[in-house]
Amino acid sequence: MRRRGDTFKMKIIVTGGAGFIGSNFIRYWLDRYSNDEIVNLDALTYAGRPENLTDISERHGQRYRFVQADIADEAQVTPVLESSRADLIVNFAAESHNSLAIVAPGRFFRTNVIGTQTLLEASRRLGVARFHHISTCEVYGDLDLDSSDMFSEESPYRPRTPYNASKAGADMAVRAYFETFSLPVTISNCCNNYGPYQYPEKLIPLFTTNLLDNIPVPIYRQSQNRREWLHVLDHCRAIDAVIRRGRAGETYNVGSGIEKSVEEITELLLRALGKSDNLKRYVEDRPGHDRRYLLDSRKIRSELGWSPEVTFEGGLQETIEWYRANPAWWRPLKTEGPVREDAWGKRT
Ligand SMILES: NC(=O)c1ccc[n+]([C@@H]2O[C@H](COP(=O)([O-])OP(=O)(O)OC[C@H]3O[C@@H](n4cnc5c(N)ncnc54)[C@H](O)[C@@H]3O)[C@@H](O)[C@H]2O)c1
Repeated sequence: MRRRGDTFKMKIIVTGGAGFIGSNFIRYWLDRYSNDEIVNLDALTYAGRPENLTDISERHGQRYRFVQADIADEAQVTPVLESSRADLIVNFAAESHNSLAIVAPGRFFRTNVIGTQTLLEASRRLGVARFHHISTCEVYGDLDLDSSDMFSEESPYRPRTPYNASKAGADMAVRAYFETFSLPVTISNCCNNYGPYQYPEKLIPLFTTNLLDNIPVPIYRQSQNRREWLHVLDHCRAIDAVIRRGRAGETYNVGSGIEKSVEEITELLLRALGKSDNLKRYVEDRPGHDRRYLLDSRKIRSELGWSPEVTFEGGLQETIEWYRANPAWWRPLKTEGPVREDAWGKRT
């Protein structure tokens, strides 16, 4: 986008800003860019937590506004876009939990595909200067555990789960609005994030909070399956780089190169929290459980000069400490999540 002067004020709509990455992004952006204003458009599903942003309202009240709205509802989206006169839309809003997608796939396609297209259409009509879409490594499908391959931005999309497929569909809609309507879009496809404010349904916060309470952790039988891990603030810095320096119409992979298996993460958490192996509980894999993803992120590193700043060991320790220090945030959520990880088969 345009180069920033000290006095340039950018108006931004962040969708899904009450969720994990969106709330970290709003905090990152308002702390860093003191003139900019953000409207957070979020439907507040079970994953959207206004309390993630309490400090933002207190510290940046003048520059931050929350609007409860559903991205898949044009009648709700259009007035927000019109009244905010946004230069930039950053679309985080999504149904994001693979396990929930197995029991309720329809809501994933509605929000992730129709919701994204609804935002694109409103952005096109109002002439938004940049639409940045947050996507995932999971659109590319999975890799053999012993493969030497990586997914580049040119890799074909081969989604395997309803979540992956709905994110792939959204990416296709974003690309179509660039090619067909010349809407200035960018997409970032990121690997697994971890950090503060992640809903305790996802691996690291689920296991950390269970272990803090001495509750067994549900490990899928395919516990050698691996993920590539990036601290959420490194993801925010990558999005910033793409928004400011990325080329319209381009996709950028965002990866750390740090792979850990579920078994390795479990061991690290057990050791860090001083807990015994008795708290490991193996459960059936969820259907369509991807084995491995690894991104080739040379493009964002060489073209935009981004690279991760947080080490995995340091970031994980900090994250564990955050959950230890904030039980009032996560404890009420432990019973609210709509799906259980041992829902696929008999526990052993
Ligand atoms: N968490 C990860 O590891 C990861 C990795 C790569 C990409 N992503 C992508 O990043 C984005 C954010 O992920 P997250 O982990 O913060 O998710 P999250 O589930 O924590 O937050 C999603 C947010 O979207 C909101 N939302 C859901 N449906 C909506 C709708 N119809 N209208 C408006 N708001 C709605 C929710 O209320 C919530 O605040 C998603 O697009 C996800 O696909 C996540």
